[in-house]
Amino acid sequence: VARGSAQGEVEDSEALPAIWENPADFQAKHQGLIDAATALQASAGTDLAGLQGALGGLGASCGACHQAYRAADD
Ligand code: HEC
Repeated sequence: VARGSAQGEVEDSEALPAIWENPADFQAKHQGLIDAATALQASAGTDLAGLQGALGGLGASCGACHQAYRAADD
């Protein structure tokens, strides 16, 4: 998310200004997404349970960042 594109600065943005107040945490949550996606990739071709677990981790990484940094739809 580019600086200057927070909610209120750009029409229809749901990016909360907190992103720019906590850049290290935002970065960490982004890294969490990368790690979860890498784990999902690694589980491909294994078994269903492994795939489901990795998918859950990916979903959790989306939610963790949205909860903190994405405005709820109005
Ligand atoms: C590091 C933070 C972060 C992670 C991780 C993240 N998101 Fe988001 N996401 C955002 C922010 C911030 C917005 C709001 C962007 C805006 O409105 O400009 C957003 C918006 C969205 C939107 C709405 C786009 C729109 O046009 O309104 C979708 C869909 C979405 N994310 C899906 C996902 C999915 C699926 C994942 C996981 C695979 C994910 N996101 C992971 C931060 C994140």
